[in-house]
Amino acid sequence: MATNETMIGRAEVDDVDAILAISNTDVDAVVHAVRSNSDAIFTWDYERTRQGLAKLYEKAKTSQWNANDLPWDTEVDQLAVIAANRTQNAGIFEGHDVRGTPVESWGEDEWTQHAVEAQNWTLSQFMHGEQGALICTAQIVETVPWIDAKYYAATQVMDEARHVEVFAKYLNEKLSGHYPINAHLKMLLDEIIADNRWDMTYLGMQIMIEGLALASFGFMHQMTTEPLLKQLLRYVMSDEARHVAFGVISLQEFYEQLTAAEIRERQEFAFEAAVRMRDRFLQQEVWEKMGVDPKEMVPVVLNAPDRPLFQALLFSKIVPNCKKLGLLDAADGWLRHRFEELQVIQFEDWADTSEEYTALDEVAKDRAPA
Ligand SMILES: [Fe+2]
Ligand SMILES: [Fe+2]
Repeated sequence: MATNETMIGRAEVDDVDAILAISNTDVDAVVHAVRSNSDAIFTWDYERTRQGLAKLYEKAKTSQWNANDLPWDTEVDQLAVIAANRTQNAGIFEGHDVRGTPVESWGEDEWTQHAVEAQNWTLSQFMHGEQGALICTAQIVETVPWIDAKYYAATQVMDEARHVEVFAKYLNEKLSGHYPINAHLKMLLDEIIADNRWDMTYLGMQIMIEGLALASFGFMHQMTTEPLLKQLLRYVMSDEARHVAFGVISLQEFYEQLTAAEIRERQEFAFEAAVRMRDRFLQQEVWEKMGVDPKEMVPVVLNAPDRPLFQALLFSKIVPNCKKLGLLDAADGWLRHRFEELQVIQFEDWADTSEEYTALDEVAKDRAPA
């Protein structure tokens, strides 16, 4: 039976020293190689038998958009946007007591600078995560044995190229600095790519990483007052909803024939991925950049009164989808208990994403003419 040590490399989930011991050491590298151990699978069965995937593929073909059509001439004054966001979102996530913490003496300037860094960091991680999705989905084209899934995955590869493109362009042209990939995100991506079971690529990417991305883009879409970013996120979200649906529809069929032991392995992988993503959201690099010791600040962040709600919102797509796939309640609710410990279970009864893509796509159709 797997233990925390074997799954996540530490006994206590909230062991701050162990979390921070994982840091990115090759920040100046230009390339990063990961060995993939999977076979590329040809199928000679061209019969279109999977209606759910066929429908998704048709939708994807008619929902393509061009990054050049976004209003890139929009002026973005990052400081003005931060001030406007603060006014719009006043009252949400406020009321922290920072007495006795390293940020106790921070005034307006420091908090503004922190907001700038946090935005640069967040968009950088989105960009790196999108490249992870590009690579993982290209891998699925090779490894999945179903023709309908290969067709659909091919459209997702194009979507992900566009997502990397728009986040990179927004960072370059509208923000004020890049961050290298966060070590926890990198570790998770490496593991997903190295796993030779094609369904694990789906679970790691389409269910876990993209589920979190969808919630996180939605959250930022609501919180930002900057119109270009808002529109960009809206377009990306309409694609992401299809990607998560692709994961749910494919894995539903595949999991039906797995043994209890095999399902348990998937539960453990979902837990590990959840911990890695929770850890990445602690933004350790932002604190370092601000001259604050993350060892002192991360426990403050972990124990902030609004943390459980924020975390549960980030997982509000993942948890219902895990439930739909049977992962939450298999093995006497093993994953349910782990998600409870991580404080992410709250929205388990929210809609799963297998159908949500149609609703999201309709809204995206209102897009302004280029
Ligand atoms: Fe994406
Ligand atoms: Fe995606």
